[in-house]
Amino acid sequence: MPEHDLAQMLYLQIAESIAMPIRAGTLARGERIPSVRELARQRSVSLGTVLQAYRMLEDSRLIEARPRSGYFVAARPPRLPEPETSNPPPSSMAVDVSSLAARVMHLAHDPGCVSFGAACPSPDLFAEERVRRAVSRAAQRHRATLTQYTIGSGDESLRRAIARHALRMGCQLDAREIVVTNSCLESITLCLRAVTQPGDVVALESPTLFSFLEILENLHLRALEIPTHPRTGLSLDALQLAFDTQPVKAVLAVPTLSNPMGACMPLTERRRLAQMVAKRGIPLIEDVLYNDLAEQNEQRRAVRSFDTTGHVMMCGSFSKTIAPGLRLGWVEAGRWGTKVARQKQATSGSQSAMLERAMADLLMQPGIEASYRQMRTTIAARVDEARGLIAQYFPKGTRITDPPGGFILWVELPQGTDSLALFQACLAESIVIAPGTMFSATNHFRHCIRLGLAGRWDDAHRLALRRVGALAATMAQRGQGGGATH
Ligand SMILES: Cc1ncc(COP(=O)(O)O)c(C=O)c1O
Repeated sequence: MPEHDLAQMLYLQIAESIAMPIRAGTLARGERIPSVRELARQRSVSLGTVLQAYRMLEDSRLIEARPRSGYFVAARPPRLPEPETSNPPPSSMAVDVSSLAARVMHLAHDPGCVSFGAACPSPDLFAEERVRRAVSRAAQRHRATLTQYTIGSGDESLRRAIARHALRMGCQLDAREIVVTNSCLESITLCLRAVTQPGDVVALESPTLFSFLEILENLHLRALEIPTHPRTGLSLDALQLAFDTQPVKAVLAVPTLSNPMGACMPLTERRRLAQMVAKRGIPLIEDVLYNDLAEQNEQRRAVRSFDTTGHVMMCGSFSKTIAPGLRLGWVEAGRWGTKVARQKQATSGSQSAMLERAMADLLMQPGIEASYRQMRTTIAARVDEARGLIAQYFPKGTRITDPPGGFILWVELPQGTDSLALFQACLAESIVIAPGTMFSATNHFRHCIRLGLAGRWDDAHRLALRRVGALAATMAQRGQGGGATH
C-alpha cells in the first residue's frame, strides 16, 4: 500500500475508534481521553498520526483541547426524542407519489436553492482525483472497449471486485452470478420484474424511499407498508402477520441505514428475516447501498450472509460511496439469477466496459477502505451538527432519528404540522426540504420531513436549517401542532 494511504488509514482508524464510543455515549462529556503521547505509545504509531486524528476529532467537535490539561470529550448536542415505530394501515395500496417526488428532486438540484432535498453526496466527499485517474487509466489501457459492443453480465474483473467487496458484508458470492447494472434502482427494478406480476403485493418499510414507490407505481405493484422502528427497522412480527394474512409476493428492504429513517436491523433480526423468507419461499430484495457507511462492522453484515436457500436478492451500487457519475450498480439474485440476467439483457444490455474497468480498479485499491472511513467521519460530524441545530431551533415536540451512519435525518414535527405547507414556505426562501408524504403510499407522514445532509455544508446551510426550524415553529404557534420554539 502506498505510504500516504497507509498513514491516512491509520489516523482515520484512530479517529473512528474514539469517535464511536463518544457518539454511543460510552465516553461521556468532559471525560479525559489519552494524551497524544499515551495513545501513540498504546497504538505504536507516530505522534503526528495521533495529532492528525485528534485534529479531525476537534474539527468534528467531538473533543476539545484544554490548555495544559489535555484532551476531553466535548459537549454533545442536546438529544431530542426519536420518532416512534410507524403504524401504517394493514392493507396494501396502489401508489401515486411520482409527481411530488419529481418536483422535489428537480428543485433539490437547482443551484439557486439551498438544498436538503436529495440524498446525493457533494463532490468533495468523494476521492475525485482517484476516480479521474482510474477512468483515464482505463481509457488508455482498454482502448478497444470504447469502440466495441460488450455482451454478457459485466466485465469479469469488476464482478470479481464486487464479490470481494461483498466479503466485507459477510457474503461469499460467486462472481459469475453477479450482474452489473447501471444503478441500485435498476437492480431492484430487475428483481421486481423477475418475481412479480402487475397487481402483486410488495412489503416494504414505512416510511420508505420514494424511488421504491415510484418503481412500484411504474410496475403496477401494490405497496404493503410494514411498521418500522427508527433504530431497528422492519418489525418482523408485523411482517410475519403480513405473510399470514396478505398475498405478499416480495419484500423490499434496506436493513442497513434505511432511507429515510436510517434504521439498522440487529444481527439476530437479520438472521430471522432470512429464515422467514426462506420458509415462505418469498424473495427478499435486499438493498445494501449504504452498508459501507454504517459505523459498526456488524451493521455492515448483509441479511444475505444468513441466506442458505437463495431467497435473498442482493442489490448495490457505488453511487453514494465512490462515484455516482460512473453509473454502476450490481445484483446477485440468488435462485432468480438467470431470470434477472435475462431481464437485464432485454432492458438495457450492458454498461460501458471502460467505466466497469475503472470501477474494478478503484474497488481493488487498498485506499478504498480509508476513503469510506473518511466519508463516514466527515458526514457524522455534519449530521451531529445538524442534530444540534434542530434541537435548538425546531419547535417543541419535534422528534428526530439518530442513525448510526449515513447522511439522512427523519424529522417528525409536532402532530398537525403540514410538511407540504412547510415545503412551500421554505421554497419561497429558496430552501428545499423533502416533505414526509413522498415516503409513503399512505397519508401517514404529513407532519414529517426528510433532511439530506450529504450535499454542500456551509454557513448558508446552517442558516437555512435554522430558518426551516423557525418556519416550522411559526406554523406550530399558529395552531398547526401547538408549541413554541425551545
Ligand atoms: C436506499 C437507496 N437505494 C437506492 C438508491 C439509489 O441508488 P442508485 O443511484 O445506485 O440507483 C438510493 C438513493 O438515494 C437509496 O437511498
